[in-house]
Amino acid sequence: MERILDEEKTIEDEDELSLRPKYLREYIGQKDVKDNINVFIKAAKLRDEPLDHTLLYGPPGLGKTTLAFIIANELESNIKTASGPAIEKTGDLAAILSTLEPGDVLFIDEIHRMPKIVEEVLYSAMEDFTLDIIIGNDGSSRSIKIDLPPFTLVGATTRVGDLTSPLRDRFGIISKLEYYSIDDLCNIIKRTSDVFGVKIEENAAIELAKRSRGTPRIANRLLKRVRDFALVNGNGNIDIDITKESLNRLKVDSEGLDDTDHNLLKSIIYKFNGGPVGIDALASSIGEESTTIEDVYEPYLLQHGFLKRTNRGRVVTEKAYKHLGIDYQKSMFD
Ligand code: ADE
Repeated sequence: MERILDEEKTIEDEDELSLRPKYLREYIGQKDVKDNINVFIKAAKLRDEPLDHTLLYGPPGLGKTTLAFIIANELESNIKTASGPAIEKTGDLAAILSTLEPGDVLFIDEIHRMPKIVEEVLYSAMEDFTLDIIIGNDGSSRSIKIDLPPFTLVGATTRVGDLTSPLRDRFGIISKLEYYSIDDLCNIIKRTSDVFGVKIEENAAIELAKRSRGTPRIANRLLKRVRDFALVNGNGNIDIDITKESLNRLKVDSEGLDDTDHNLLKSIIYKFNGGPVGIDALASSIGEESTTIEDVYEPYLLQHGFLKRTNRGRVVTEKAYKHLGIDYQKSMFD
């Protein structure tokens, strides 16, 4: 029970938690999502009803969990958190649901990874706040129906396409989080520096923002490391020189690509002639899980034009060759 509700958190996660904005007005970027959610929260409060179930999706590190906590704060409700793969049995979900108080927010991260049988219990819980479960074993099993308090489910996923339609259809609010602009990331970096009590020059913040792959989690992680270099090798203040030097030492290039991105692109270029290559062949050639490539690495490379997806597989673009300083030779088949 404890394990399902409160996943183990690393020190980095704890740290991240304290950096998180608590209210919508402090949350930087994602303007459309923020503005809409603000209206839906206000309307729910005016009607004295729970907020409709809300699904947040998009690449990792863009603030889905942060937003779930903000929604609970804005609703002046408690939040219980769980993660899809940790809810293994229907009984696990029943245990979580039975702890809910009226108006609570239940946050389920990685909701696409919830087992099917558990998901089916969630349907009636979401739709009419009832818990329909079968208790006992074959000989003496019976079905029971328990009323639940009205609550709001906030689900988060990196793979909205993996959600079944009955589950997806039960969310009244579905919001997609996008990669952040340099401007928004720059403001997040300055906000985090303030929280740390560290001085950062404007051009240093811009440089960090440019190399953070549109992702606040990466921006904050890089900022922490640059802060270390600034403290040990400098006077503690973050300027452009220390930023560039630190990021180069961390092997984060001018476009924010790291060793794994380089490895992935070079692997396609040298081992698969620039592509097309299937995801599984690519995954085994660089020793990463296919899902990690699809969820973590690929979305940014695709969006920024380093990689293309064709129906025969992934292809490295001319832009990627140029960026890596490799001669681009047009394939005969182009
Ligand atoms: N920290 C991480 N994400 C953030 C965001 N979107 N706004 C403000 N601070 C953040």
